[in-house]
Amino acid sequence: MVSSPLLVSLTLFLSLPLLLFLSPHILSPPDADDLTLFRRAAAPHTTSHLSATPKIAFLFLTNSNLTFSPLWEKFFSSSDHHHRLFNIYIHADPTQNIAFPGGGVFHHRSRLVPAKPTARASPSLISAARRLLAAALLDDPLNHYFALLSQHCIPLHSLQFTHNFLFKNPTHPHKSFIEILSNEPNLFDRYTARGEHAMLPEVPFSSFRVGSQFFILTRRHARTVVRDIKLWNKFRLPCVTEEPCYPEEHYFPTLLSMQDPNGCSGFTLTRVNWTGCWDGHPHLYTAPEVSPELVRRLRESNSSSYLYLFARKFAPECLRPLMEIADDVIFRE
Ligand SMILES: *[C@@H]1O[C@H](CO)[C@@H](O)[C@H](O)[C@H]1NC(C)=O
Ligand SMILES: *[C@@H]1O[C@H](CO)[C@@H](O)[C@H](O)[C@H]1NC(C)=O
Ligand SMILES: *[C@@H]1O[C@H](CO)[C@@H](O)[C@H](O)[C@H]1NC(C)=O
Repeated sequence: MVSSPLLVSLTLFLSLPLLLFLSPHILSPPDADDLTLFRRAAAPHTTSHLSATPKIAFLFLTNSNLTFSPLWEKFFSSSDHHHRLFNIYIHADPTQNIAFPGGGVFHHRSRLVPAKPTARASPSLISAARRLLAAALLDDPLNHYFALLSQHCIPLHSLQFTHNFLFKNPTHPHKSFIEILSNEPNLFDRYTARGEHAMLPEVPFSSFRVGSQFFILTRRHARTVVRDIKLWNKFRLPCVTEEPCYPEEHYFPTLLSMQDPNGCSGFTLTRVNWTGCWDGHPHLYTAPEVSPELVRRLRESNSSSYLYLFARKFAPECLRPLMEIADDVIFRE
């Protein structure tokens, strides 16, 4: 299914030994290829072209088809000089039969990063996000923001608006947009999911945080993540309880709040609707709910400095109604 223009990270790929696909539920020794990748990405890079337009690296983490790729195609081609504003990286679960967007800007600008299977309730989603960050760090020194998205995410604004919000907004210079919460009611159960004392001494309970799995990190924080070994060695331990086990909702907020709390906004720019949900799955929007009014409501936040750039979680059937309002509503601003 993968056509050759997608496989741009070829040198990266060839430098790695053949992978053994281990079950993500079993604690495996750190894979040598991942370690090599993270080490290379964490090394200081010379930042050239300081005067060039900085880019957003869009990181798609998926285990199914990218249903909304026609909408993203419109997003990526919505501005005249769009090609200078972004790069796209895709981590697609190799055990699924995934078809990739054909033709267009999305297709030509996507790089497939060497991927491994992902599963809920295991650290595999953290590993996948780290692989995406590492590949994007190495690929282009102009990648200054790194936005993690899934196949259920949609854009709420045009590419130019998104780029201006991140790079030209004086209220949050060089901050990461990641939710960091310490008041979740079952936080202690989440902390002890790997065993009562498993996180000690590196992560005392007072440092343990929770937040949305979807974030936008600065280049500095992307490097903090790929450089980290200490916390990763804790968070990659398997859960001993079935519930609540959501490693990816803890690793990134905990690491960044321990290392650089002032460099984080504490706020995610990806809107999600948890109203009336308690089973670990947020509200899944269906086609009849899609309207210009919904898009406007999803953009609004209670904060005076922030708004939402992306939203989740949308059922595949939403593609048609979303495409109908794309030009007049979503990418109008
Ligand atoms: C992705 O789409 C292709 C057809 O376009 C289909 O054959 C395949 O089963 C789909 N994969 C998944 C994981 O749904
Ligand atoms: C959030 O989801 C609930 C249903 O669970 C729905 O009633 C409500 O309208 C949704 N809110 C927004 C802003 O879409
Ligand atoms: C804003 O605050 C109100 C009241 O606390 C809440 O009902 C609403 O969901 C919040 N909206 C967002 C976007 O967080």
